[in-house]
Amino acid sequence: MKAFIKKLLAVFLVIWHPIDRLLLSIASRSSFLSSLYYTFCSRCFSKEHQSVIAGRLKYYYNLKNNGSGSSVLLRRNIHRLEKGIIMRPCRRVFATGYIFDTVKAYESALSAHDSRESFSGTLKWAHDVLSAYFSITDDGHAVIRRSRDYFHRLPSIGGDHLFRPYHRDLSGSLSIDYAGLLELSKRRRSVRWYRQVAVSREQIDQAITVAALSPSACNRQPFEFRIYDTPEKVVDIADTAMGAKGFSQNFPGIMVVVGDLSAYFHERDRHLIYIDGALAAMSLVYALEVQGISSCIINWPEIPSKERAIKRKLNLNPEQRVIMLISFGYPDAKGMVPYSQKKSLNHIRSYNK
Ligand SMILES: Cc1cc2nc3c(=O)[nH]c(=O)nc-3n(C[C@H](O)[C@H](O)[C@H](O)COP(=O)(O)O)c2cc1C
Repeated sequence: MKAFIKKLLAVFLVIWHPIDRLLLSIASRSSFLSSLYYTFCSRCFSKEHQSVIAGRLKYYYNLKNNGSGSSVLLRRNIHRLEKGIIMRPCRRVFATGYIFDTVKAYESALSAHDSRESFSGTLKWAHDVLSAYFSITDDGHAVIRRSRDYFHRLPSIGGDHLFRPYHRDLSGSLSIDYAGLLELSKRRRSVRWYRQVAVSREQIDQAITVAALSPSACNRQPFEFRIYDTPEKVVDIADTAMGAKGFSQNFPGIMVVVGDLSAYFHERDRHLIYIDGALAAMSLVYALEVQGISSCIINWPEIPSKERAIKRKLNLNPEQRVIMLISFGYPDAKGMVPYSQKKSLNHIRSYNK
């Protein structure tokens, strides 16, 4: 029976491929035809559509119900204020379209204040930037005056160190130079064979501390790292993706980079979880490597059955998406790595093209 189904499938693919190629050539002519193709001929984008819609819905839900969810709006708007503050020349009136909403978001975040340190860091950042904003803007403007008065009635967050725009101290030289970074880049390879010892969680946390310092659009940081370091869990999670076949059983640990689409109100930003998540992942991989921990990115394929399985295993909401998996461990010196010749500078670089 199995052999019969396999044969049938093979015959179907032989017939389907030329038809599909013809449909692709028609669908590629316009975005409308492309949409028809992805409605009737392929459902490959359906999970992404669902997650983007669920994310937008959650964004609006969080706005209305505030709580810690309002931190997305707060983080974005505080970032926008900081850009206004560092503008040269700095205007006396700016951000009037969103300053009051930002103060209200700060108020909501204060009242929903949870004990997570990162969140209290966000609150202090919001407080200090708002203070800086009101100290330089023109309170002759009705919106600024109303927002400032409202802000000054809210609890203040103290501390000597101010979380607001500053001039970097560029006087000293870095302890890392180009040669050091190049050496690290050459040392890092995708490593698939590891020593069978547990990886220090302290080292992992140190690497994630570096990853958290990566750039992210409007500083929203719409990702998290889910780490698994018990043997059953590691294999179970790693094998959900397809790219770790044959070596997942020797992973001491695996992490899943999860993006959160509820950070955005518009579809135009739907790629940011992948961009921000990948930038953070690269920093993380280097931070692991300098501590003697090797790693390998494992592709997350967008296949509906796989999506369902990982969502169940990680207990993810519809708006949360897996960006990639990363295996990690102390390298087994006896295990080889592929040569992986890179493209030459001339192939990947151009100026003023
Ligand atoms: C997005 C992404 C997905 C990847 N997926 C896999 C994978 O599923 N399985 C695997 O063994 N390696 C995977 N890799 C590792 C690549 O094969 C590897 O980075 C590439 O061959 C270059 O080798 P290097 O990392 O040693 O320079 C992936 C890398 C990236 C960036």
